[in-house]
Amino acid sequence: MSHYLLEVKDLNCRFEIERNLFSKNKYLHVLKNINFNLKKGSTLGIVGESGCGKSTLCRTILSLNNKETGNIKWFSKDIDQFSNKEFKNFRQKVQIIFQDPYGSLNPRMTIGNIISEPLEIYKKENDKKSKTLKVLDVMEKVGLSDLLFNRFPHELSGGQCQRVGIARSIINEPDVLICDEPVSSLDLSVQSQILDLLKSLKNKLNITMVFVSHDLAVVKSISDEVMVLKQGEIVEKSSAEQVFNNPKDEYTKKLISSVPRINNIG
Ligand SMILES: Nc1ncnc2c1ncn2[C@@H]1O[C@H](COP(=O)(O)OP(=O)(O)O)[C@@H](O)[C@H]1O
Ligand SMILES: [Mg+2]
Repeated sequence: MSHYLLEVKDLNCRFEIERNLFSKNKYLHVLKNINFNLKKGSTLGIVGESGCGKSTLCRTILSLNNKETGNIKWFSKDIDQFSNKEFKNFRQKVQIIFQDPYGSLNPRMTIGNIISEPLEIYKKENDKKSKTLKVLDVMEKVGLSDLLFNRFPHELSGGQCQRVGIARSIINEPDVLICDEPVSSLDLSVQSQILDLLKSLKNKLNITMVFVSHDLAVVKSISDEVMVLKQGEIVEKSSAEQVFNNPKDEYTKKLISSVPRINNIG
């Protein structure tokens, strides 16, 4: 048994971008030979320019995308060999939060229902009262007032919506939280509040994290290890300190010199 939660080996992913009847179909090779292991309790930062394949990598890990070749192991077992039950458990234990906090919430559901939905899916709590208590407990953990319980997403700010996304993702006590540009669409002041929240949750709840951003400054503040992605390939992977203080790759140097940056679009 290895001490890694997640092991990704020689992962390749491509998208068909043109289908031809009389000649070869055209593909976009988005991930090329990706290798990394996720150690329990650590935070892996993934950084790279927009379009380099970061979201595709997150989605592929969760099987929301098909991979072309390669293996993904969860607690040393290949996820392709999972039974339905094992897969369901995997999806409960590996959660994701997205860049667009408002767009990832169902506009017709109340905040309380949005946060408690994963409890229904995984049939965690049965009676209504314990569900409500659990929801109020995570709302407090992520800094949301219980007054928002019966409100709707459009009544909340971007930062509050992202807190709802985080609450929803931690309610079933995941082992791994994948954060795909979780602060990129927020104002700078709100960005640092959400980053602080993620850091404190990680420590309090003992969550292992994958933290994705196009913004090196953000990744630096939260990661133990950093992986630099360029056009679907890992060009550098090392401790956060090493990558920032002594970058080996030219592309990493370029990314570092572009901090601080003006635009914030992921
Ligand atoms: N479902 C898809 N079909 C075709 N191309 C895709 C699909 N998803 C992503 N891509 C392409 O793959 C590349 C990587 O995208 P993405 O993983 O979203 O990058 P990032 O998150 O780093 O900005 C982009 O060129 C994007 O246009
Ligand atoms: Mg992305």
